[in-house]
Amino acid sequence: MGSRTIEEIREDFPALKRRRNGKPPIYLDNACTTMVPRQVIASIEEYYTDYPACSGTRSRHWFAREVFGRIEGTPGKEGESSRRIIAGFINANSEKEIIFTLNTTHAINMVALGFPFRSGDVVLLTDKEHNSNLLPWLKLQKEGRIKVDFTLPNDRDEFDLDAFERKMKNNRVRLVSMGYTSNITGYTIPAREIIKIAHQYGALVLLDGAQTVPHQTIDVQSLDVDFLAFSLHKMCGPRGVGVLYGKKELLGQKPHEEDEADNVIVPVILGGATVANSTYHSYTLTLPPYRFEAGIQNYPAQIASGAAVQYLQQIGMDRIRDHVDGLNHFLSGELMKRYGDTGWFRIIGPQDASKRGGILTFEVKRPNALGIAVDLSEKSNIMIRDGALCVHSYFNEKFGLQWTRPISHSEHRMVYRVSFYFYNTIDECRIFLETLDEIFKERGYI
Ligand SMILES: Cc1ncc(COP(=O)(O)O)c(C=O)c1O
Repeated sequence: MGSRTIEEIREDFPALKRRRNGKPPIYLDNACTTMVPRQVIASIEEYYTDYPACSGTRSRHWFAREVFGRIEGTPGKEGESSRRIIAGFINANSEKEIIFTLNTTHAINMVALGFPFRSGDVVLLTDKEHNSNLLPWLKLQKEGRIKVDFTLPNDRDEFDLDAFERKMKNNRVRLVSMGYTSNITGYTIPAREIIKIAHQYGALVLLDGAQTVPHQTIDVQSLDVDFLAFSLHKMCGPRGVGVLYGKKELLGQKPHEEDEADNVIVPVILGGATVANSTYHSYTLTLPPYRFEAGIQNYPAQIASGAAVQYLQQIGMDRIRDHVDGLNHFLSGELMKRYGDTGWFRIIGPQDASKRGGILTFEVKRPNALGIAVDLSEKSNIMIRDGALCVHSYFNEKFGLQWTRPISHSEHRMVYRVSFYFYNTIDECRIFLETLDEIFKERGYI
């Protein structure tokens, strides 16, 4: 962890200092949202304390220039601006390709609503898309504007490139929109190969990087990805800020959206900052990224996003990945050793933990399988996620509708997700194992 130990790094997170019943929190719900270090909190506080104004894209005064400087850069100090820090983090060609959004969901909707689809166009997804990368497309399908199709995994639950290429060959796929890393299984799809094939067939690729960008180095230029969406709150950043990266040529340059070329997304929410000029009858657009950032922005969060990325960079993305992989390997191995043969305990996704990044989702198929996440929280302050994980479509298909409330008590099943980040420890995993064992015993499972 850089030159600092994990114990030293944990000191940065005020929430980890809390105690309930004399015990610390064990936060294993990082795929939902992560803890926030004091450096990021300080950055938010600094905005409200020292320069709580709008940005210099609007006003020209002292405070506005300070806000502008921290988001866009001041001459000679560009390295400190959050848009540039984020552009550098994913190796975008320019900070103009970084659009601030509310979150990943907002970023994906911006493409769905702003892309010039033609009737009959197909948008191709995987079978495990988060609702945020499913519903926007289902809505367009319902309106008759596109057709949604799915490419299915192989029998090891990994991406099937041959099946994908067959889909590309036999359908008029205009856009491939896929979760880069599944929030159910932690499996990361072979994006480089997917993008290459998609481009061969003339389709563009949008990657939902919500679970990927926080965990590994991403190079959008080397990947050649067209759009990438992610959320800062899953990478130690503030809530309410995400990013849509788009290649410059796909974000538009013309003052009127109707003049934009094929494949260019146009803004769907208009207002302050999106327009260069307006009359009572017409308007002209600003250039990207501003044409996509309508209205007064969440400036403190945009500024703190830069602080969050710098914080991760200081720890090192390779170290983050190695640490998280190690924890997942340990806990997966221990769980399978204890319950792998029972028939009612199953890890979802690839069995090889090294293919599941920071996510360990398991199914418990026993009478009264509900409520284990609450028990873990009550007994040992362990925080994990349960339920459909915002991927209802997948569980309804695999487990049947009403899968948490089946007719027969003995058919109860529930899905639990443990998700790690760099501040988690092996000791926390041990407490998790002990507490889960106690719960299973109390419930008469073992
Ligand atoms: C794979 C994936 N996509 C999209 C999202 C939505 O992210 P947000 O709620 O930040 O928009 C999530 C969040 O859990 C996710 O895991």
